[in-house]
Amino acid sequence: MKIIHVAGARPNFMKLAPILRALQAYPEIHNILLHTGQHYDVNMSDVFFDDLKLPRPDVNLGVGSGSHALQTAEIMQRFEQVMLSERPDLVLVVGDVNSTLACSLVAAKLHTPIAHVEAGVRSFDRSMPEEINRLVTDVLSDLLFTPSRHATENLRRQGIPEEKIYFVGNVMVDSLLDALPIASEQRSWEKWGLTPENYAVLTLHRASNVDDPANLRQILSTLAEVSRRLPVIFPVHPRTRQRIQESNLGGITRASPGLILCEPLGYLDFLCLIANARCVLTDSGGIQAETTILGVPCLTLRRNTEWLETIEQGTNHLVGTDQAHILQVLDEILAQGKTTPQRPEGWDGRAGARIAEILHRRAQILAR
Ligand code: UD1
Repeated sequence: MKIIHVAGARPNFMKLAPILRALQAYPEIHNILLHTGQHYDVNMSDVFFDDLKLPRPDVNLGVGSGSHALQTAEIMQRFEQVMLSERPDLVLVVGDVNSTLACSLVAAKLHTPIAHVEAGVRSFDRSMPEEINRLVTDVLSDLLFTPSRHATENLRRQGIPEEKIYFVGNVMVDSLLDALPIASEQRSWEKWGLTPENYAVLTLHRASNVDDPANLRQILSTLAEVSRRLPVIFPVHPRTRQRIQESNLGGITRASPGLILCEPLGYLDFLCLIANARCVLTDSGGIQAETTILGVPCLTLRRNTEWLETIEQGTNHLVGTDQAHILQVLDEILAQGKTTPQRPEGWDGRAGARIAEILHRRAQILAR
């Protein structure tokens, strides 16, 4: 069985790594790693291949950035050529980025089965491009690997046939547990003269938070306030850096010495920083899950989440973007001790192995 595994953007790499590693146990499966090139900066892409010990991509489509329609169409055109020459038996996509959607559409139209890893995850907010990508990819997929019982339930409610759904757990957690011992030795906080538990980490890149200058101004002002309580390390996503420049908001960050801006970090450096942080502020999806496993309080700067289990476990707080509310929750968190690490069902470091086993069984059926 020949599988094309699709990666495109930063959050894809830590999801694919454990699957490719687990598939090494099944030599009858021929794996092709394809990078669409949606993310291309060294610190948004290459560094993750090193940190996660991912093999170099066999194919790189080199699409780069563009509007949603342009980027999706460009990936589709280039991926179709690869599909026609490789003729795989299955295309495996992960997560919810434009590359996930684009490659699923091409595979479906060429009648090639699709496996979707992280199927069924929903924010129920269609203003998020990722929600559209998830909905369409799930409808087109033949094997839907879910990270949680909530995700499985979402697929059932959507009418996806039971025999297509496999609850396998959270692959991101496989990467985290695997890398944690090495990441812990990095002492990344030292670069800024900080000590564990005495700083916060911030990430911000969601279109709804950074694309509107008024929103971005309000959020940055709030973060400046946060940085008066404790230092905040802020690895800035290229999209956010661009928006800060375009909207002339650099003054807010320059006037806040506690808000420490830096380039995007690699997987190990970032993991080391969040594992030792007093708290994390983020609008990312994956970081909500990672902080749950690490037992680090997380303030999610959004009105909704696709990771309900992180709220149920008590580590994640949906705070939106209202300054007074964010500061109130932050003060409560700073007054409390560290939260206990939580392991929702299937977040155990074995999700990649469960996926590989299911793919192996499919390969056996194909070979008959
Ligand atoms: C994408 C995903 C988002 C994910 C995020 C993680 C979609 C719709 N969005 O958002 O779900 O959470 O990745 O990072 O797929 N840029 C660079 N260098 C790069 C990549 C991007 O400078 O290597 C800049 C470009 O100006 C680009 C902008 O960032 O236009 C946005 O990149 P894009 O891939 O469109 O979306 P992200 O915001 O990264």
